[in-house]
Formats: sequence, structure tokens, C-alpha cells
Amino acid sequence: MNQQNTPAHVAIIMDGNGRWAQKRGMPRIMGHREGVRAVRDIVRAAPGAGAGVLTLYAFSTENWKRPVLEVQALMALLKTYLQSELAELAANGVSLRWLGERGKLPADVQKLLENAMAATAANSRLVLNLALNYGGRNEIVRAARELARRAKAGEIDPAAISEEIFGSCLDTAGLPDPDLVIRTGGESRLSNFLLWQASYAELYVTDTLWPDFTRDDLLAAIRYFQSRQRRFGETGEQVGR
Ligand code: IPE
Ligand code: IPE
Ligand code: MG
Repeated sequence: MNQQNTPAHVAIIMDGNGRWAQKRGMPRIMGHREGVRAVRDIVRAAPGAGAGVLTLYAFSTENWKRPVLEVQALMALLKTYLQSELAELAANGVSLRWLGERGKLPADVQKLLENAMAATAANSRLVLNLALNYGGRNEIVRAARELARRAKAGEIDPAAISEEIFGSCLDTAGLPDPDLVIRTGGESRLSNFLLWQASYAELYVTDTLWPDFTRDDLLAAIRYFQSRQRRFGETGEQVGR
């Protein structure tokens, strides 16, 4: 792969686990289980593909509306993943971060996440953001609340609130915006993912279901990214190609 012009931040909407299982006559949860395998492969592949930040959308603020047994199974899988992968993540220089509102996940999952984040905080080869109980609107509202609190306390002048300051109140504070958003499972929608941060991301939708998504599929998405001209509002002539 051409190592030039690789996306610094790749964000993935991991969709299609349920359909993967249903196609095989299995319960949906089997698809989630296979999905964990794909997560492992993509986390291993990301640094070599030039991405220093990888964000995985694992559970949305809307996914609580699913049948309770599916939600419970997803939480159990998450717990197993955090327990079984922590050593490898730490050894491979991965720094784990959590995007999403704290408090609603089961207490044991929260504790595992906090421990894993603390144990890997000093790593810098790959920042792995897990979006859990994450919603773009929820994140923006929490940032607005924080800024309103600061304004009320006299810590900030409302007129001084800039895009930079707003961004620093989001869960992704300090990280570059995603350059490439991949969605597996074929739907061309954002489903409340990184609404602020993805404003100029290149979008790549593939029909491949998440459990089938491999390192080669990641590289194909990156090659697509490399073929795009990013203009950020300028003309093609201005960005010069
Ligand atoms: C994505 O797969 C995983 C989560 C949302 C947790 P789905 O479970 O949404 O799979 P489909 O879209 O029903 O196939
Ligand atoms: C998006 O998938 C959320 C995650 C991948 C975690 P969904 O399956 O929840 O999205 P919709 O409901 O089809 O938009
Ligand atoms: Mg889905």
C-alpha cells in the first residue's frame, strides 16, 4: 500500500452482525461474537495501515432500545473483550479511550473500561476509541452543558466560544477529526456517529457485513480514501491536482 496520504484517523460503524448471523440461521448474538474477531483483526492492522487513531462504534445511545437479552449479551461480550484483550492492547502500544456518556453502562463494564484506560494511557502507537453508549447529539449536548456551566460560573465569555473550544469539550478532545468513516453492512447513514467530527470525513460504505470485514477490506477503504480529492470548500484548482 502507498504509505503516503493515509488517513490519520479512521472511524468505523461496525454494522451487519445481526444479518450475518440470520443469514446462517443463527441467533443475532452469534454475529456479535464473530464481530469481536473482526475487531481484533482490525485493531492489529490499523497501525500498519498508517492510522494512528481508530474509532469503533460499538453501542449507540439508541441501541438500548433492542431486546433486553441482546443488550445483555452485548454487555457480556464487551466485558469478555476487555478482559481478554487488555494484555495484548497494552503490549502493542494501544491507548484505549471511551467515547460516550458515562453512567449508563453496567458498573462492572465501566470499571473494566476505566482500568483499561488507566493501564494504557501512556501508550502512543494507536489510540483506540471505543464508542459505547455513544450518540453524536448526546455528546454535543454534554459539551453545550459544560460550556453553559463555565459561562454561568464566569469562567468563560460566551462570545469567546469558538469551534476549537467547543471541540475541546467533546469526548474526542485532543484527537484529529476522522479523515475516513467506514460503514459496513451497506446502509448509507451516520446513525448518530461523530456528527461534529465527521464534517469533512470521506465516507466509505461497503456491503460487507462487519464479521466478514478483514484487513484487506480496511486497505481497500484506505485506497479509496487515497483516490479522493479533499477540497474543504476550495476549488479543485486551489487544492492543486
Ligand atoms: C452492529 O450490528 C452492532 C451493533 C449495533 C451493536 P447490528 O446488530 O446492527 O447488525 P444488523 O444491522 O442488525 O445486521
Ligand atoms: C449503528 O448501527 C450503531 C453501531 C454500529 C454501534 P445500528 O444498526 O444501530 O444503526 P441503524 O439503527 O441501522 O441506523
Ligand atoms: Mg445494524
